Amino acid sequence: MSILMISLIISITTCTAFFLVQRLKSIHRRSVRLPPGPYPFPIIGNLFQLGRTPHRSLARLSKTYGPLMSIKAGFANMVVVSSPEVAKEMFTKHDRNTSGRFVAAATEACDHHKYSFVAAPVGPFWRKCRTICRELLFSSQKLQACQGLRRDKLMQLYEHVKECAIRGRAVNIEEVVYATSINLMFATMFSFDFGEVDSTAARELKEALEEVFAMFIAPNLADYFPVLKGTDPQGIKRRGEQSLRRILGILEDVIRKRLESTTSQKYDFLATLLDANNRKEYGISIEEIKHLIVDLLLGGADTTAGVIVWAMTELLRNPEKAAILKDELRTVIGEDKQVEESDIPRLPYLQAVVKEVLRCYPPGPFLIPHKAEAGIQVMGYTIPKDTQILINVWCMARDSNIWSDPDSFQPERFLDKKIEFEGHHFEYLPFGSGRRICPGISLGSQMLHLVIAFLVHNFEWKLEQGQELDVSEKSGIALRKSVPLMAVPSIRFIL
Ligand code: HEM
Repeated sequence: MSILMISLIISITTCTAFFLVQRLKSIHRRSVRLPPGPYPFPIIGNLFQLGRTPHRSLARLSKTYGPLMSIKAGFANMVVVSSPEVAKEMFTKHDRNTSGRFVAAATEACDHHKYSFVAAPVGPFWRKCRTICRELLFSSQKLQACQGLRRDKLMQLYEHVKECAIRGRAVNIEEVVYATSINLMFATMFSFDFGEVDSTAARELKEALEEVFAMFIAPNLADYFPVLKGTDPQGIKRRGEQSLRRILGILEDVIRKRLESTTSQKYDFLATLLDANNRKEYGISIEEIKHLIVDLLLGGADTTAGVIVWAMTELLRNPEKAAILKDELRTVIGEDKQVEESDIPRLPYLQAVVKEVLRCYPPGPFLIPHKAEAGIQVMGYTIPKDTQILINVWCMARDSNIWSDPDSFQPERFLDKKIEFEGHHFEYLPFGSGRRICPGISLGSQMLHLVIAFLVHNFEWKLEQGQELDVSEKSGIALRKSVPLMAVPSIRFIL
C-alpha cells in the first residue's frame, strides 16, 4: 500500500473518530439540563454573535436567556454569568470546582504554560506561587519597603509632563501612563526602570509586553476548533512568541547580573525570589522565577495603565468631578506637597474615583476565564466538567437594577455605599473573587490611586485642540480605549 493511501486512511479515521466523539458528547449534553442560551450553529456555534465587544453582546443576550447562559464558541462550551446571585453561588459554593483555567493555545509559546501560575490549575504549583505572592511579594511590609522607588518613578513622570507643559506639547496619556506603570512595576520588582518614560528601551519593552498580551487575549481559532490545535492558523502564537522570548531574554540578563553582583543588597521582588531560591525555600527554580515575573508584568502593567487612561478620560469629560478631586487633594495634601501612598486613606473622593473607574471599565470584563474542574449543579442547571466560565463583571456593574444611572460616571455613589473591591460584593468584582482573585490588588490599587492623584494634583489638563473626547472601546476581551487620549497639560505650581 502506498504512503498516500495510508495517510488517506489515517486522515479519514481521525476525522470520523473526532466527529463521532463530538456527536456522542452532544447527545450526552442534551441528556443533561444545560443553562439556556442562543441556538449554536453547526461548527461555528455562537462565534458570530460575540461581535466586536463580547462583554456588551453577551450582556444583551443575557437579557433574553438569563443570568446563567450557555454559549458555544466553535466547539468550546461556555457558560456566561451575568448576575451577582449566580456569581455568589459560583464563588462561594462552587469555588473549588470552578477555579480551573482553560490552557489557551497561545499560552504554550516558550513553554509558558508549564511555568505560568495564571494558566495552572488549582494545585500544588499554583498554591506555591500564590503563597510566594502573598507572603513574599505583596505583603504590606514588602510594599512599604519599596515605596521610595515608586516615588522616584513618579517624579520622573512629573518631569516629563512638566517638560511637555512648558513646551505646550500634547501628552499621549496612554504612552506615558503605560511607561510609568512598567517603571513602577520594574521599580518594585528590580529596583530599576527602563529609563525615561518615553525612552527607546521603555517603548521596546512596552511593545514586547503588548504583543505578548495581545497574543493571550486574541480570539484564536485554535482554541475553538480542536482540530486546529497545534497549527496556529492566524499566526498569533508565532508573533507573540518572539516577543515573549525577548522579554525572557531581558529577564535572564537581569537575573544573571544580579547573581554575579557581589554588592547588591536590594529589597525588591527579585532579591526576595532569588533569596528564596538560594535558601531552597518554597522550591522555586530560576526558570519559574522568570515566568512568574512575566505573569506579574502581564497581569499588572496593562490593567493598571488601561484603568488610569479611562480615569483621565472621564475626568476630562466631567470637569466638575475633576474639580472636586483637585479640591480634596489641595485641602488634604497641600498646594506644594506631593501625594504619598500613606495619604490615600485620607482621600475619600480619590478612592471613590478609582472605584468608579473600575466599575465602569473593569480591565478584565470576563475576569480571566475560569474552567469547571468537575460537573456542578447551579440554579438547577448542570455545568459539565471542562466548560469555560465567563463572569461578565462588566454587565453586573452596568445593571440598572443594581446601580442608578449606571452609564454615567458618578464617584459619589461610592461615598454613600460601603462597597469594596476585595471580592465580597458580587455586583462589583473588578479584581475577581474567591481563590483566583487578583493577587496584585494591593500594588495595583496603590498605583492607580497614586498616578491619578499625581496627574490631577500637579497639572491642569485640556484636550488637544480639535480632538473630540472619544470613549469607544477597542474590540476584544480586554477593555481598552480605542482612540489614544491626547491631552495638553499646564503646570499648577513648580516644585
Ligand atoms: C488595575 C489593576 C488590576 C486589576 C483591575 C486586576 C484584575 C485582575 C482580574 C480580574 C484577575 C482575574 C481574576 C480571576 O480569574 O478570577 C486578575 C488576576 C491576576 N492578576 Fe490582577 N489586576 C490588577 C493588577 C494586578 C497587578 C499589579 C498584578 C501584579 C503585579 C496582577 C497580577 C495578577 C495575576 C498574576 C493574576 C492571576 C491570578 C491567578 O490566576 O491565580 N494584577 N487580576
